[in-house]
Amino acid sequence: MNRTHNRNDRRRFLKLAAGLAAIGLLRPAKTFAQREAQITRVIASSGQRLPVIGMGTSRTFDVTPDPAAMANLGEVLQAFFQQGGTVIDSSPMYGNSEQVLGDLLRRIPPPANLFAATKVWTDGEESGIEQMEHSRQLWGVDGFELIQIHNLRDWQVHYETLMAMKSEGKIRYVGITTSHGRDHDELQSVLKSHPFDFVQFSYNVGNRDAERELLPLAADRGIAVIVNRPFARGSLFQKTKGHPLPDWAADFDCGSWGQFFLKYVVSHPAVSCAIPATSKVHHMVDNMGAGFGRLPDQTERRRMESYFASL
Ligand SMILES: NC(=O)c1ccc[n+]([C@@H]2O[C@H](COP(=O)([O-])OP(=O)(O)OC[C@H]3O[C@@H](n4cnc5c(N)ncnc54)[C@H](OP(=O)(O)O)[C@@H]3O)[C@@H](O)[C@H]2O)c1
Repeated sequence: MNRTHNRNDRRRFLKLAAGLAAIGLLRPAKTFAQREAQITRVIASSGQRLPVIGMGTSRTFDVTPDPAAMANLGEVLQAFFQQGGTVIDSSPMYGNSEQVLGDLLRRIPPPANLFAATKVWTDGEESGIEQMEHSRQLWGVDGFELIQIHNLRDWQVHYETLMAMKSEGKIRYVGITTSHGRDHDELQSVLKSHPFDFVQFSYNVGNRDAERELLPLAADRGIAVIVNRPFARGSLFQKTKGHPLPDWAADFDCGSWGQFFLKYVVSHPAVSCAIPATSKVHHMVDNMGAGFGRLPDQTERRRMESYFASL
């Protein structure tokens, strides 16, 4: 990114932050200061670095693409890029999401290091190949960095296709996903026997099942971890409603419950990236703030767990 770009981004960000601060949604000085030290993690299979906060698109981008919805989501996407976001996760399973995202990517130029990640979610080799090509056309990208087998569906077949695509240089990484704690046993046996670059599953302060086996396994095998549902689809906020953020959260540069949940997830040493989804600009700015400043250490993580459990 050149200097003029940086200055323009900075100016646009300050304008956005000032607007949000005016309506009491953001403490601008802190978030902007945090921007200077974005937290990244290394993908073990390549050495490439990724910002720890990315963006999900299920439900939030699955809208009827009328002008009002597109204008709103365009601002959400722009805020994501302005805050240094690069990792976007979608799937053909998410209704209109890939189409809406692609239309917006044609209007709002993504950064050169956009990390485009989608999934294959169908049965059969031919259908899988067609679906991935359709997704590529919808996004309007030359190719995907990462394609993940969605919910292990027909995984043996798609695995062969994806490994061939990887060796031909059509994609950079191969992944596999699940969510809600489903199919963990099968996922573990797949990961033990096949060299996936990425795995994606649910993990958050209210559901820590993945800590038992999946996270250690991924760390052991050098598999990058993308965490979906970092807010348990938003339900974590129901539990914290009416409760103030503890003062000690400021010790690790955390200024909101959203950042509390995200910093908890990405401070696990095996996690590469979390992909919260939002349809609101101020939530996007808030979420991206979790990717800056300090992360909680082990003692602080234990304190976060007990505090959340006590609510
Ligand atoms: N099997 C799979 O592969 C799989 C399964 C599930 C999910 N995923 C991926 O993971 C992504 C994330 O999961 P998810 O969308 O289910 O749930 P999530 O990210 O845990 O939660 C999203 C919800 O949190 C709310 N939210 C976001 N930021 C907030 C903030 N700062 N303050 C308050 N509320 C906030 C959003 O509402 P607002 O719109 O009002 O902000 C939305 O309702 C998905 O979009 C998808 O890309 C993959």
